[in-house]
Amino acid sequence: MTSHPIRFLLNDTEITLTEVAPDETLLDFLRLSRRLTGTKEGCAEGDCGACTVLAGRLRNGALRYEPVNACIRFLAACHGCHIVTIEHLSPKGAGLHPVQQAMVDHHASQCGFCTPGFVMALYGLWMENGDPSVVEIETALQGNLCRCTGYEPIVKAARAAAAAGGQAMDALARERDGVAARLAAIPAGAEVSKDGKRTILPASEDALAQALLDNPGATLIAGATDVGLWVTKFLRPIAPAIFIGHLMKGVSVSDDEIRLGAGVTYSELLPIIAETMPELTDYLTRIGGWQVRNAGTIGGNIANGSPIGEMPPLLIALNARIVLRRGNSRREIPLEGFFIEYGKQDRQPGEFLESIVVPRPDGARIAGYKVSKRAYSDITAVAMGILIREERGLITEARLAFGGMAGTPKRAVKAEAALRGRPFARDTFEAAAHAVAGDFQPLSDWRASAEYRQAVAANLIRRFWLEQDGEEVRLSRTVEA
Ligand SMILES: Cc1cc2nc3c(=O)[nH]c(=O)nc-3n(C[C@H](O)[C@H](O)[C@H](O)COP(=O)(O)OP(=O)(O)OC[C@H]3O[C@@H](n4cnc5c(N)ncnc54)[C@H](O)[C@@H]3O)c2cc1C
Ligand code: FES
Ligand code: FES
Repeated sequence: MTSHPIRFLLNDTEITLTEVAPDETLLDFLRLSRRLTGTKEGCAEGDCGACTVLAGRLRNGALRYEPVNACIRFLAACHGCHIVTIEHLSPKGAGLHPVQQAMVDHHASQCGFCTPGFVMALYGLWMENGDPSVVEIETALQGNLCRCTGYEPIVKAARAAAAAGGQAMDALARERDGVAARLAAIPAGAEVSKDGKRTILPASEDALAQALLDNPGATLIAGATDVGLWVTKFLRPIAPAIFIGHLMKGVSVSDDEIRLGAGVTYSELLPIIAETMPELTDYLTRIGGWQVRNAGTIGGNIANGSPIGEMPPLLIALNARIVLRRGNSRREIPLEGFFIEYGKQDRQPGEFLESIVVPRPDGARIAGYKVSKRAYSDITAVAMGILIREERGLITEARLAFGGMAGTPKRAVKAEAALRGRPFARDTFEAAAHAVAGDFQPLSDWRASAEYRQAVAANLIRRFWLEQDGEEVRLSRTVEA
């Protein structure tokens, strides 16, 4: 096999690796190989943010840096990126970075274990938002846990860093053109192996289609926010692996539909949702934390077949379709038909999810709700997507899809029937809230009991009515200072 090395920039250094196994994590590489021990390991599952680094990537010629979790980012996925660690912020002999100085000034660190991760997330925010609100700071910090300091001093530090400014003089701003040119010079694809374990990064979508035909048993890895945990928590072998997180990034928005490449991340989707379906932005910002949303893809959330993935209930309610590709053949199916039963999806060997087509719900009332134990960065107990269309006071179309209520994301056909053809009124939604009990026999597990899930499903239907009727039903969130 010809080796096309993995190449990326790490702070100021160009890295070229001819031997990389697919399951090697960026965090192990930083700490064990490069002795860059400022980046910490807490949970090794994307939950605590102690391992936060910035990943810079060229998108349509522009260089954009985003915080990601080094613990569940595979080394191979760094190909073509600029990885920035805490050590880059204040090189030896230089003073503290404005974000670090603000953390000191506001006593925002006690034991300090979480601090490099907080600094890196705040650094990412500081670069892209010169005047963040408290809610924006909290959103940026959803993926960072601190056990001892408390968040108030950290939020104050974030505001103070923004007020201190200096973004134009920052090293990443000054070096931007040079870094962009160095990244652009790195060839798109790579293929390496180590100890017989193959790592393939196709240079294009056509190359991916061929690579998967040639290796139908390979593990596809997009953002690795699921697959990363197979390795760090379950020690599961994943070789050979095909990395696809850099592919299928296209988005097109027409009057009728939104087409999303399967590799679009939550963070890339958010501005499109904010423009086209703003009522769904809260739902999206409750998926993972910022680091997870910067890596996790919509395609991965569908393809993993999870009964509690958050995008499928929403997308099924919106009547989305998916395009599956095998070699040069494509087929388009309704998303709801993809989920056959728990652990079984309508996907053939050699086939991958290429894109998602979402009809624009213009004129319909839509909502997405998630109920979980923690507001942010937590697994769903129950999620609901809903779309209601009415004409002259009568409901003409009702699509309700739930996650967490069955072995797959599923429509609530009895609740839909209770709505269809009925007046858009409280009694109708009350009838649907009763009918949904006949749609599912949910399981009890450590996340929620079956009775709780049934009660939540009914109450989410009631919540939708209340909101549409003008009542404000909101999660409690920090009030803007
Ligand atoms: C801390 C944390 C919090 C999380 N919070 C949430 C949450 O709130 N809500 C939620 O829904 N999920 C959550 N997740 C799960 C995860 O982030 C999502 O499921 C994410 O969308 C997975 O996408 P990915 O690109 O990372 O997938 P990967 O991990 O790369 O892959 C997941 C699966 O999909 C397959 N796959 C990926 N892309 C394709 C493709 N194009 N074609 C065919 N197969 C493909 C892979 O082979 C694998 O089987 C969380 C994860 C973590 C670590
Ligand atoms: S070590 Fe906890 S998120 Fe990576
Ligand atoms: S300062 Fe100790 S965990 Fe945050």
